[in-house]
Amino acid sequence: MSESSRRPYLIASGGAEVRYRSHDVIVVGSGIGGLTAALGAARKWDVALLTKSSLSDTTTFLAQGGIAAAVGPLDSPDLHLADTLTAGAGLSEEIPVRVLVEEGPDRVRELELLGTKFDHRDGQLILASEGAHSVPRVVRAGGDATGSVVAGALMQAMIAGSSVELREGEFVVDLLTDGATCIGALSLDREGVLTLYHARAVVMASGGAGQVFSRTTNPGVATGDGYAMGYRAGVVLRDMEFVQFHPTALHVDENPTFLLTEALRGEGAYLTDAKGERFMVGVHPRAELAPRDVVVRRMREVMIRDGVDHVFLDAGHLDCEFLRERFPTVFNGLGSRGLDLCHTPVPVSPTAHYYIGGLLTDVWGRTSLPMLYSCGEASCTGVHGANRLASNSLLEGLVFGDRIARDLDRLLAQPSRPVRKFRLDLPEDHRVGNTPSVVAAARRTVGEIMTRCCGIVRDASGLDEGARLVAELRESLRPPGRDVDELELFNLLTVAALTISAASSRLESRGVHLRLDYPEVDDVHWRRHVTVEYDEAREAAHVRVLGRKGEL
Ligand code: SIN
Repeated sequence: MSESSRRPYLIASGGAEVRYRSHDVIVVGSGIGGLTAALGAARKWDVALLTKSSLSDTTTFLAQGGIAAAVGPLDSPDLHLADTLTAGAGLSEEIPVRVLVEEGPDRVRELELLGTKFDHRDGQLILASEGAHSVPRVVRAGGDATGSVVAGALMQAMIAGSSVELREGEFVVDLLTDGATCIGALSLDREGVLTLYHARAVVMASGGAGQVFSRTTNPGVATGDGYAMGYRAGVVLRDMEFVQFHPTALHVDENPTFLLTEALRGEGAYLTDAKGERFMVGVHPRAELAPRDVVVRRMREVMIRDGVDHVFLDAGHLDCEFLRERFPTVFNGLGSRGLDLCHTPVPVSPTAHYYIGGLLTDVWGRTSLPMLYSCGEASCTGVHGANRLASNSLLEGLVFGDRIARDLDRLLAQPSRPVRKFRLDLPEDHRVGNTPSVVAAARRTVGEIMTRCCGIVRDASGLDEGARLVAELRESLRPPGRDVDELELFNLLTVAALTISAASSRLESRGVHLRLDYPEVDDVHWRRHVTVEYDEAREAAHVRVLGRKGEL
């Protein structure tokens, strides 16, 4: 069986030998969603987890804040639902949000049973406050090291207690499709060897794409590979215009940037201007704990007003011993940079943090391509709407990763088509690719274009310019060879183009999408979603504004 001739692949075979392997399930990515799906699926099925770097090189591992879940005595799933819908600015889907908030508490308890040591006081879980939560709701571990503690427990369970075959250093290049079904993935290992992984189902949990901007809290691996390969395989992506900027990344010339968790504001830290005055008071009833989009917009106004590129996070009025104990990651990270949270306000600025959009899924993590699932930041389940509620992302990975495992149990139990010999129709050419210095320069350029033309604020002329510059940059490059940095660059260029297309289509300001030329929310015309998918006939992106919410 051969592939459709028009389907684009990122890589050429160059006549090289391709290895073959076969599993029931391939999971791509080792963040919280991928680990949860792999562990769950491996209870019944033969599962391989492919991750392009090391197991722990993920956005999950860096997460500081925690996991939002309605486990406290003052809380309820209904309250969590209401907060999520409010933060989502009219575009969160109620059905997946209900799934999230109702199943979340059980998933958190299961994490505890697995060995995750969440922080307790007097035998009770400590619950932190974060922006736009109406009650303290965020379960945390190691103070501000939640991601690494949770990922550590899941990794341990996978390595020591499961049959998951772990393959690090496997860069998944493209999905394999047989007609309209996903049948596996093509992967490049560290030695440059291509392997065709045949699978009855693939779970795309490859994370986000913060690296498409110049400054991001995401690790270097967050290059949107899942979005780009999903796009090339014809999968529907949704909400790609909604990119959340975190208000308080340390304002220094680093990428990834160092995050100062929102929980600091939850414990009472202030946002101040250069004169030391708080600027969120009077802007929103929750002041510094307003939803992230509100905080970022106000920060931008203050920075323009004062002609500066940062503001300050001031924790000087809080008890120093408490800060040191509660926020060891932040405290030590600042200390190693010569900064002191206790005594000096810390310079902060908004930084790309989270892709709300992604591969559109239903409540079981199923994408528009049969046998391809997605969870975590790679997916768009519909829960985050136009602005994600803080600490809902780890929860989303847990809940939908688990749901995927349950759905796989149902689906894979049914007899499937016998595996047919699959011939991979990669282009045959021998590609020399681009030199490392060209790749590094192009990667910087795409970040600059996106930051300037499609960043915190957008307008038609900037978006048009961005689209043109991204296309020109791509045209200036040779087709990619076999280098992972180079393949990531091409994925970044695809994600940049898709993000700009979606952002150009939405003619209003909503949540994290702020258009200077359409500054108002327009519920009449725009309480709806934008999808993008590959159009084979035109060999270009097809952007659609859905007539009703949730259409797949
Ligand atoms: C943070 O700790 O502020 C990040 C949490 C999140 O993005 O949900």
